[in-house]
Amino acid sequence: MQIRAAVLEEFGKPLVVQDVGLDGPKAGEVLVRVQACGVCHTDLYTASGVDPSGYAPTVLGHEGAGVVEAVGEGVTSLAPGDHVLTLFSPQCRECVHCTSGKTNICLAIRDEQNQGYLPDHTTRLHRGDERIRHFMGTSTFAEATVMPEIALAKVPREAPLDVLCTLACGATTGIGAALYIAKVEPGATVAVFGAGLVGLGAVAGAKLAGAERIFIVDPSADRRAKAVDLGATDELDGGEEAVARILEETGGFGADYTFEATGLVDVMRQAVEAARMGWGQCVIAGVAGRGETLNVIPRYLITGRRIAGASFGGARGRDDVPALARLYLEGKLPLERFISHHLPLAQVNEAFELMERQDGIRTVLTF
Ligand SMILES: NC(=O)c1ccc[n+]([C@@H]2O[C@H](COP(=O)([O-])OP(=O)(O)OC[C@H]3O[C@@H](n4cnc5c(N)ncnc54)[C@H](O)[C@@H]3O)[C@@H](O)[C@H]2O)c1
Ligand SMILES: [Zn+2]
Ligand SMILES: [Zn+2]
Repeated sequence: MQIRAAVLEEFGKPLVVQDVGLDGPKAGEVLVRVQACGVCHTDLYTASGVDPSGYAPTVLGHEGAGVVEAVGEGVTSLAPGDHVLTLFSPQCRECVHCTSGKTNICLAIRDEQNQGYLPDHTTRLHRGDERIRHFMGTSTFAEATVMPEIALAKVPREAPLDVLCTLACGATTGIGAALYIAKVEPGATVAVFGAGLVGLGAVAGAKLAGAERIFIVDPSADRRAKAVDLGATDELDGGEEAVARILEETGGFGADYTFEATGLVDVMRQAVEAARMGWGQCVIAGVAGRGETLNVIPRYLITGRRIAGASFGGARGRDDVPALARLYLEGKLPLERFISHHLPLAQVNEAFELMERQDGIRTVLTF
């Protein structure tokens, strides 16, 4: 079939919305009619050409939500009409990582996905004879996509997809960092560095887990105000003074859990230094530039602080994302507050401009 899709033709140039061909699902694959898709920094990062592993032409987009239209041979967990979120981080439930219970980093289709192919090393996207590669295994800046069954999370039909789509990347990364990596407990003191979607998700997750005190660190007053709406109790505008203030306000010890959601290595270090002596855990969710390193004085670790990374918030996509969707339906996760703009697919480049101007938190494309 032919679909409208936003194609990255050339790095550093606007995406070109056009008709492309999409073949039907093969064995183990699913055709999804995309209804909504958030625009994330990773899309812009790849479009800009800064990402050394990027490729073109490709259809960008990875924060997608849609409805199953058809399933390929052997697909048993999904049927036409099911509502799904797309998972750039799949969950096969069979590989040595999935069965370990220790990580959400599934090994099943990693190499093919990184290179822009579906698991059988081909693409379903094309333009005449030319193959167009799939971005992050998702390619959801498009009216439809074909993805492996193991990379789709089935979500309740009663929840609006243009809100739920935030769970396909940014919101789950932050919320999961609090719930699944840090496992914040009631009464804890938390500090979140960065109040974009990821940091705000961490605030919402910490609040849900019963954190008593939540510091939000961000130079943007607008963004701090959003965090306060979600449960942050103390505002700081960043820099080394923020660390000093967090220590001061916690009897000289630091916060039980700190979260970094900026991608800046200096801020990552600050998040480590603001974590409590003895047991403080620093969770790093931001993605630093290639080749950058984190500079931590080892004494911070020997005195009991721990550092963890969080890919997709540690969420096991097919198990945890539906659970987060149910929390949203129960009124416990105000995902709608993360969304500031809705735009049609044709205006995808405006969504990038909004992001570059830091106008709003999330733009959601609708179809
Ligand atoms: N780990 C993952 O799976 C995953 C998934 C999505 C995004 N990310 C990464 O998470 C990071 C955050 O993403 P986002 O969409 O929330 O980004 P964002 O750009 O919307 O938010 C970053 C925030 O950091 C703030 N900031 C800038 N300098 C600061 C400082 N010195 N101290 C404190 N805050 C400062 C900015 O004002 C901004 O509000 C990015 O690096 C992104 O690539 C990681
Ligand atoms: Zn993303
Ligand atoms: Zn797996």
